[in-house]
Amino acid sequence: MPSYDREKADKCAHSYELLRPVDAAHIAYPRVWIGTWSMGGEGFGPHDLGESVKTLEKAYQLGFRHFDTAGFYANGRSEELLAKVFGRVRKRIFISTKGGLWREGRRVWHDARPEALRQALFESLDRLRTDYLDLFQLHWPDPNVPLEESLGALEELKQEGLVRFIGVGNLTGEVIRKFIEPGMLIPHQVHFNPICTKHVDGLKAGREGARCINCVTSPFEQGLLVNPVYLKKRLGKKDVRNRNPLFRDTTVISRLRQFFRECKQQNVGPAAVILSWLLNRDEVDIVIPGPRRPKQIEELVDGVGKVDSHEVKNVGMRF
Ligand SMILES: NC(=O)c1ccc[n+]([C@@H]2O[C@H](COP(=O)([O-])OP(=O)(O)OC[C@H]3O[C@@H](n4cnc5c(N)ncnc54)[C@H](OP(=O)(O)O)[C@@H]3O)[C@@H](O)[C@H]2O)c1
Repeated sequence: MPSYDREKADKCAHSYELLRPVDAAHIAYPRVWIGTWSMGGEGFGPHDLGESVKTLEKAYQLGFRHFDTAGFYANGRSEELLAKVFGRVRKRIFISTKGGLWREGRRVWHDARPEALRQALFESLDRLRTDYLDLFQLHWPDPNVPLEESLGALEELKQEGLVRFIGVGNLTGEVIRKFIEPGMLIPHQVHFNPICTKHVDGLKAGREGARCINCVTSPFEQGLLVNPVYLKKRLGKKDVRNRNPLFRDTTVISRLRQFFRECKQQNVGPAAVILSWLLNRDEVDIVIPGPRRPKQIEELVDGVGKVDSHEVKNVGMRF
């Protein structure tokens, strides 16, 4: 099983502070990481590569230093995009990527055997044009491979100096309590937001005995929570959000109509409200939104600035 720097973790008041780039200067937002799934250009409607580049440049310019990706996203193009934009400042950024989930055409499968994770890591290093990863995670547990085996493989990659931190994703509370030792503080990615709370036990289990650093993914429910256009818009045939039943849930849609009205009345952006709702929760360490445009980076900055404001909390309380 992986060993962790327990002493360091115990001393760390805010566990997310452990996850820093090699050159840790100028980190303005250690709790908000920029997710790059949609910026890879597949599955989220029309895409503009130039816009994605500008979005990442804006993020860096405003002080974001953590970027989350995966070999799985857009067939590796999200990783290639990071290499293109940040090649020259590699040590100043923290790259979090994942392995163990594979695809070929429309076929998707899990393979988190040690040899498959090693292969995924080397493919990611190639696409990211780097010789180390800051964080390498098991994207999903593989039902055919014991979790200890996958974690042991990640730990080996860490011991070899290819990876600075290892992490996990999409584990249940039960699995965390069984397999992740107290004090490990292993980064764990969990889908969570005001309209998707079914995985909250995974976050709670991570908190018990400091097992995990809790990282929230899809905080805006793939855009549904922050962009009123999705209440009416028909998604394209290849859009991944067609698989998300919340986009068609009439109760959710009527709650969101009310939410957007209130945001307008209070003159606050929905992204600020949702960020506040998440960052103020005890069980959340890090939030990973997936912006696609420079303006959305500015909204995130604005949101962090308003996290404790009265207006934002007033609207957020309605969830
Ligand atoms: N570990 C895992 O299994 C896992 C799973 C899912 C996601 N993730 C990570 O979490 C990241 C975020 O998740 P996500 O991409 O599903 O979506 P999200 O952050 O919930 O939603 C992103 C969408 O929200 C819209 N949006 C509007 N205003 C925004 C703003 N100010 N900032 C950000 N987005 C805004 C954008 O769509 P429009 O511009 O089109 O409106 C964007 O495509 C991913 O990129 C990935 O890194 C990890």
